[in-house]
Formats: sequence, C-alpha cells, structure tokens
Amino acid sequence: MTSPTNTAKTQHVTITINGKPVEADVEPRLLLVHFIREVAGLTGTHIGCDTTSCGACTVLVDGTPAKSCTLLAVQADGAAIATVEGLEQGGELHPVQEGFFQEHGLQCGFCTPGMMMTATALLARNPDPSEAEIRRAISGNLCRCTGYVNIVKSIQYAAKKINAAETAPVAAAVGAEVRQA
Ligand code: FES
Ligand code: FES
Repeated sequence: MTSPTNTAKTQHVTITINGKPVEADVEPRLLLVHFIREVAGLTGTHIGCDTTSCGACTVLVDGTPAKSCTLLAVQADGAAIATVEGLEQGGELHPVQEGFFQEHGLQCGFCTPGMMMTATALLARNPDPSEAEIRRAISGNLCRCTGYVNIVKSIQYAAKKINAAETAPVAAAVGAEVRQA
C-alpha cells in the first residue's frame, strides 16, 4: 500500500529569481515564499504572517509587487521574480537601500525587505511620488517599529537620488552645448 507521503504529485517549475533560473520539482501546495527561501535559499524575503496581512514577504513578480505567501510556486512558473538580494548591483547599494540606511528607515529590519521591494516598484512607475503616494504604496506593508516617518523619508531620499542620476547626463550634455556655443 502506498503511503500518503508517496502519493503527493510534484510539478516541475522554473522560476527566474534575480536573473537566475531556479528549477525544481515542487508540490502544488508549495507557497512561492517557501520556494524562494527554502529551494532558492534566499532568506532575505521574510514570513511575518502567512495570511497576506503584513507584506514582509513582498517580492516583485514580473515587476509588480506581490505577497509571496499568497502565491503558489506553480503559479509563478515561468515568471521573473526580484527579491531584496537582487537590489545591490556590482557592490553598489540600490538607491532604496541607501535611503533606508541614510534615513534610518529600519529598526528591527523585519519588514524592511518587503518595504524595499514595494518602494522599488513604486519608484519604477512613479519616480517622483508625493508623501501621500508613498504612504498609499506602502499601505500593504506593516512596520511595528518605526512609525513609518523614516520609511517615507528613506523612499524620498531614494527618489531624489534616482532623479539626480537621471538628470545628471542631461545637465552634462546641456553644459557641453553651452561651452561649445
Ligand atoms: S508573510 Fe506574506 S503578507 Fe505576511
Ligand atoms: S523595522 Fe521592525 S517591523 Fe519594521
């Protein structure tokens, strides 16, 4: 007689996480957050509630923030996932990471990876958000430590840094034209 554990069917999935494909045979009930943490070994994505309430598990799925405790790994088959580990590039902190560092946007840090991913998606679609827009964007991410004030400042810092980086080449080009005139 087959034991119940042997009857569980698995499904082969390939999920690209931070640009690298991760393949595995998984049970259909496996949550995406467990795939990220236990199969891919990326434990920066936290689990705070498992009930879609806290946002600690937020990752980007094809660029859109999603609570990875709410999705099954099989639903993310073929998707591109971004986690907090993918923010840093070439040893350089992402502006959002730098903002949280500079503006003291964290205390215990448990909510921080999810906050950062939500902030990253916000700034990608709205590089100059108002305070109200920032607060609306992070309304699905709970922080029990900071009171949110420094988190908002951190995201505003990142927005300024991103905008300065985008306008710098333009300013340089304008300067070059002026000098040539
Ligand atoms: S662990 Fe996913 S929303 Fe809390
Ligand atoms: S820094 Fe502790 S929960 Fe946000």
